[in-house]
Amino acid sequence: MTTMEKTANVPAPRDDDHQGPLLEVRDLHVEFHTREGVAKAVNGVNYTVDAGETLAVLGESGSGKSVTAQAIMGILDMPPGRIPQGEILFRGKDMLAMPEEERRKIRGRKVAMIFQDALSSLNPVLTVGYQLGEMFRVHLGMSKKDARLKSIELMDRVRIPAAKERVDDYPHQFSGGMRQRIMIAMALALEPDLIIADEPTTALDVTVQAQVMDLLAELQREYNMGLILITHDLGVVADVADKIAVMYAGRIVETAPVHELYSRPSHPYTRGLLDSIPRLDQKGQELYAIKGLPPNLTRIPPGCAFNPRCPKAEDICRTDIPLLHPVTERDGTDLPGRGSACHFWKETIHG
Ligand SMILES: Nc1ncnc2c1ncn2[C@@H]1O[C@H](COP(=O)(O)OP(=O)(O)OP(=O)(O)O)[C@@H](O)[C@H]1O
Ligand SMILES: [Mg+2]
Repeated sequence: MTTMEKTANVPAPRDDDHQGPLLEVRDLHVEFHTREGVAKAVNGVNYTVDAGETLAVLGESGSGKSVTAQAIMGILDMPPGRIPQGEILFRGKDMLAMPEEERRKIRGRKVAMIFQDALSSLNPVLTVGYQLGEMFRVHLGMSKKDARLKSIELMDRVRIPAAKERVDDYPHQFSGGMRQRIMIAMALALEPDLIIADEPTTALDVTVQAQVMDLLAELQREYNMGLILITHDLGVVADVADKIAVMYAGRIVETAPVHELYSRPSHPYTRGLLDSIPRLDQKGQELYAIKGLPPNLTRIPPGCAFNPRCPKAEDICRTDIPLLHPVTERDGTDLPGRGSACHFWKETIHG
């Protein structure tokens, strides 16, 4: 085949013909200038999310999960926040480097966010129909009547019973689970490519949590969206995530496909998190808790940030920062999608 023939078959490149991942976060750093000093909340985070893929971001409180998401959404408090380094590539284009106008189009339309607390995200004095409809009126220029119909359709989609009758109700008239469905509907309204859900079910009862999570996963598949699910509860996301990134003190310490993370963690921190999850088959047994507390982010210990709490720590862990590197089988075979930031990952994973 000649070059001419080859190029003739290839359509002109468009914005969305980008080949790589939908979202790629590269070496992201975020710091906050506080009275206590500079709090290093995010310290070189890398992750990718493809269309149709669910990434769960797991970690204790304060590990930088939300701050990373806020940087992606462009809703970081700046100041005191600052992004001294890093790239956030959406379809291959760095959102941190693009003109404000272009960035706003992506963040308003292509990336949506769902927060934990629906009640404080919704306006209490406006009906849910009005608030949903606003998305269509403001962003898509729809008439009031069409926007209302679309809102009812969307409420149906997120399985709010009797949507037609309930469209004129106020947020407080809905249960917590139903309100969270309304938040999902809002996020879906403009058919984004990526949804970031920050602890979307934390405020709900356990049974309702599962229903909302299943719904989110189902819609994500149907719309072929990328989904970032932020949680400190692995149990909640295990069934719906494709892969997991475990964060500690602003770094990703382990990445793995979900089932592999469960069966063979490579980082002592991940192992500690797993051992602290209640399991049905071990009823009555005392739960393990990782000893100590996460570090003060203005004074992250040298070496591996987890070393003061780590049962396996040795001298090197107190001096050298372990970088996230590929994890292999004992015989050196690659384990795709797996990475570990532990000097002793071999011992942890292969026992
Ligand atoms: N506006 C701010 N000013 C100062 N520090 C902040 C600000 N926002 C976040 N931080 C700090 O950044 C660190 C990471 O916070 P982040 O909210 O990302 O944690 P998280 O992993 O989402 O925890 P959680 O599970 O509690 O939601 C925390 O120590 C937090 O105090
Ligand atoms: Mg958070």
